[in-house]
Amino acid sequence: MIQVGMAYYPEHWDRSLWEKDASRMAKLGVHAVRLAEFAWSRMEPEEGRFDFGWLDDAIDVIARHGMRVILSTPTNSGPMWLYTDHPETVQWGRDGRPTDLGIRGHRCIQSPVFRRYAGRIVEEMAQRYAGRPEILAWQIDNELESNHCTCPSCREAFRRWLREKYGTVEALNKAWGSEVWSGEISSWEQIQPLLAPDCMPDWHNPAFMLDYERFGAWSLADFIQRQRDIIKDHDPDAIVTTNSWFCANMPDFYQEFASLDVAAYDNYPPMDLPEDGETLYSNAFGLDLVRSFKRKNFWILEQLGGAGGCWSPMGPAPWPGMIEGYALQAVAHGADLVSFFRWRSSCSGAEMLGHGVLDHDDRDNRRLAEIGRFCRRLEAMPELDRTGLHSDVAMLYGPDQEFVLKNQRQSRNFAYWTQLRLFHDACMGLGVNLDVAPESAALEGYKVVLVPTHYVTDPALAARLEAFAAGGGTVVVTNRSGVKDKHNNCIFGEALPTVFRRLCGCRVEEYDAIGDDRRHIAAVNGGSFAVTGWCDLLEPEGAQVWARYTEKFYAGTAAITKNAFGAGWAYYVGAVGERALYRSLLLEIFRAQDIPVLTALPQGVEVTTRSGEGGTYRFFFNDTLHGKTFPVDGQMVSLRPMEMKIQGEGGEWL
Ligand code: GAL
Repeated sequence: MIQVGMAYYPEHWDRSLWEKDASRMAKLGVHAVRLAEFAWSRMEPEEGRFDFGWLDDAIDVIARHGMRVILSTPTNSGPMWLYTDHPETVQWGRDGRPTDLGIRGHRCIQSPVFRRYAGRIVEEMAQRYAGRPEILAWQIDNELESNHCTCPSCREAFRRWLREKYGTVEALNKAWGSEVWSGEISSWEQIQPLLAPDCMPDWHNPAFMLDYERFGAWSLADFIQRQRDIIKDHDPDAIVTTNSWFCANMPDFYQEFASLDVAAYDNYPPMDLPEDGETLYSNAFGLDLVRSFKRKNFWILEQLGGAGGCWSPMGPAPWPGMIEGYALQAVAHGADLVSFFRWRSSCSGAEMLGHGVLDHDDRDNRRLAEIGRFCRRLEAMPELDRTGLHSDVAMLYGPDQEFVLKNQRQSRNFAYWTQLRLFHDACMGLGVNLDVAPESAALEGYKVVLVPTHYVTDPALAARLEAFAAGGGTVVVTNRSGVKDKHNNCIFGEALPTVFRRLCGCRVEEYDAIGDDRRHIAAVNGGSFAVTGWCDLLEPEGAQVWARYTEKFYAGTAAITKNAFGAGWAYYVGAVGERALYRSLLLEIFRAQDIPVLTALPQGVEVTTRSGEGGTYRFFFNDTLHGKTFPVDGQMVSLRPMEMKIQGEGGEWL
């Protein structure tokens, strides 16, 4: 059965409350209680003096009520003695100074001293708890980010990482093209991973920036693996994970989860929902991306439980239906465990206004009632965890693309995520399951592979896509693909899209980074669409024209092409369009590939299917604040705002 969890902080509450809290959670339908991710100062109040008595008691109370524990390692925030006695464990910011003490997440994950203390507390916990039946799983740290600390240990570690990668400074200078702006180095000490707050990332050499991001991602994965190894040494069967999030310092999620058993994510969907704004389907995209981390079902370790308000003014109250609806949406996209954040808002500390399920008054409320309803819905589908999402369509996502396009914007109004989301939105709007997949993913079994902005180029991928298309698949490549080599330098002497030119049967003759301006394109088979951000002016080299620009000096020039390649097709989309463009394009592609579509879904309604040994379940979710009615398979379906309806194998409503 799909598991329901709850974040709980026994260390924040008087012991007299523990029993009552556990009993209320168990009655609600909670299976697992997530504990301890910030409790280091309670577990090791003084250096080397450990106190797990309180945690033993809390675990006992939880177990007595029939629930299990997701036990977190507390390394996100060290105790104050650690920072004051060992200042080299403190994280440094972009300004090259140690971060303020007394906040959280302010430890350097690369510092050898921090790693020694972190390793020791994890070892103590693993010795005591690993393998115990009460423990369902382990969470490492909390909401880890790629390592961007600038302390002396991190600078040294970055230099070491570069030395191992390049061997000599000459090789590094060559790879980075450091001769520009006199950036050549003659000794490793000249490497300065320091981005002053007022220095824009695009003032730095893009090749340096890409390696800096790759180092940060490696440093994080290495930190995770060390903790994971300690736990596994004590219990090889332990389920170990960490709760990821989409943050400023994005990691390489594939590397982050490589050593872990299950992907996990903190799911805080938007509560402002403009009908046709940026947020439409954005949460669905995040969930599909998380499913790609291990290419299987995932867990939610923090699920929206109340209004936000931790680091900013308080956010809006969740609308009726949101708590239940968003939790079911996570399940619809592949979550097998959904753990809410948090049982009760805390009465002290910086996060006191970040709302949990219960408010400070501790009374039962409508959010609690919605979680109860969520639990009952899951109980009615006990086989649902034995299903997964199966997709005919894959969309490739590359951490390198993420890194470089963030640090070197191509044009105003052009961003990697926007590009990905436009394609994802169109699939959602047509009721088509989509797998986000790493660039290394096997393509067999898919009918369509979407490749938005494959900017840092892997020629081997181009060859695999050619084979895929030749075998009857459809590939869609977009603008700013094939631009850079693996070091993030521009590819010399080849027309764009370089390695994709043969597959797409066209070349980019010129381009226009139009920023916020708009142009229009007319599809050869009808339809006119606004485009913005970017315009590639295409010269077909065997491809048919799918759409042409209608304005400026390039009126009449191809914007989108379609090339027959072996038994399949390759489209090249040279501009970034409005939603309707992607719908129209994908509808043509899906119909040609016999992929079933639902053309009457109102915007904001998403349909996904989970299937497998546990049956087939079709999820209809209204991710808007308006009621929606639409026809499906000859019957009308009505959904209240945020409502999820689920259809079983025989079409019956569950
Ligand atoms: C998460 C974090 C939690 C808590 C929560 C508040 O990002 O992991 O510890 O701060 O936000 O909404």
